[in-house]
Amino acid sequence: MNEVLALAEEILDASLSQTRPRFFAFVGSSGLESAVLGDLLATAHDVNMATTAHAADLIESQTVQWLSSLVGYDGAEGYFTSGGMISNLTALSAAREKAAPGTRMTGVRDGRLCVYTSVESHASIQRACEVLGLGSQAVRAVSIDEHRRMRADELRTAITQDVADGRAPMAVVATAGTTLTGAVDDLQAVSAVCRDLDVWMHVDGAYGLPAASAPETAHLFAGLSDADSVSVDAHKWLFVPKACGCLMVKDKNALRATFAHDSGYMLHDDQRVEHSVDATLEYSRPFRALKLWVALKTHGRQQYVSAISKNLALARILADLIGEEDRLELLTQPQLSIVPFRYLPWNHEPNDFNRRLVKKMQERGRVWVSDAVLDGRVCLRPCIVNFRTQEDDVRALVEETLAVAAALD
Ligand SMILES: Cc1ncc(COP(=O)(O)O)c(C=O)c1O
Repeated sequence: MNEVLALAEEILDASLSQTRPRFFAFVGSSGLESAVLGDLLATAHDVNMATTAHAADLIESQTVQWLSSLVGYDGAEGYFTSGGMISNLTALSAAREKAAPGTRMTGVRDGRLCVYTSVESHASIQRACEVLGLGSQAVRAVSIDEHRRMRADELRTAITQDVADGRAPMAVVATAGTTLTGAVDDLQAVSAVCRDLDVWMHVDGAYGLPAASAPETAHLFAGLSDADSVSVDAHKWLFVPKACGCLMVKDKNALRATFAHDSGYMLHDDQRVEHSVDATLEYSRPFRALKLWVALKTHGRQQYVSAISKNLALARILADLIGEEDRLELLTQPQLSIVPFRYLPWNHEPNDFNRRLVKKMQERGRVWVSDAVLDGRVCLRPCIVNFRTQEDDVRALVEETLAVAAALD
């Protein structure tokens, strides 16, 4: 056994680890040690959260409460999921049943249901609509303002027009931290539209919502408390290992109306017993909450908030460092911890150059950054969500970019 583990360690160590402080690509991981131990315990305990799971159920609901209070969505109920994709799909399933009761039985019969979200929301929204039978044509891509936030005026017009045309608005999905730039939609403005026009409001905070706990960015999330449902991934900016998504809702009955069922192999005769499977998409469901419970209890709210604030500060330092370099162009001021920028080459076409730059940097492996396209411009898109990342690491990213670019230009 020891030999096998040593072998596995050797193999994995020769490859990329996303938990290292200079991994800036996509939305990375931290693999927080306390949470790793919590996860180990949960795996060994191996309870199935589909049916009533006693202490594990209590821990799950306590963790949801802590999480909802951390981000300012107080009093929510909810469940842990495998991540943003499933949380968003679950929320939209409930919104569909609310907008068109009985659809879970009849299926989607006409093309009336519509979902509204910004052009820069995550692809999981479109995928959820495809899976739910609405089709991606049901997604109304609302344009963004100068801060890359969904335009609430356009949202209102689109919904009003659809209603006039005989369509049925099913949900609005606001993003609290887009994957491309970290922009936070104006939740207050979106909520006013949803309230006036009586549409389900979902907030996809899979990446960015933890920043609602930090004093410097909390104001960006005003209006969150009006949402009907909210997604957040603890395996992103709450540092715990995958998978640890959470879907929080104001009214659990909306989930029950969508998923409750009676099966001969899982009796529902005792009304005091609640099976989570009656309110979740998944059947067998691992005990994902424990790792976050252990981490929150070990480090406490304040340490969490400081770690998130530190990531936010590093993003601003990175933006300043980029601003000091003639050959680097900051493409948008960071709202949270994503800092898209590009190198301006002397002798080459910028898009092709920046693509090659990222590839070369990845080959060298000193820092790891991914590329992205922002308004047609290929850029580097560092995202800082690791509590281990320090100022030296951010400086190393700039130095490595300049060094590799100079050699290529
Ligand atoms: C805003 C947003 N929503 C949803 C997702 C999907 O999350 P997951 O990969 O955990 O399913 C992501 C992933 O990066 C995201 O950034």
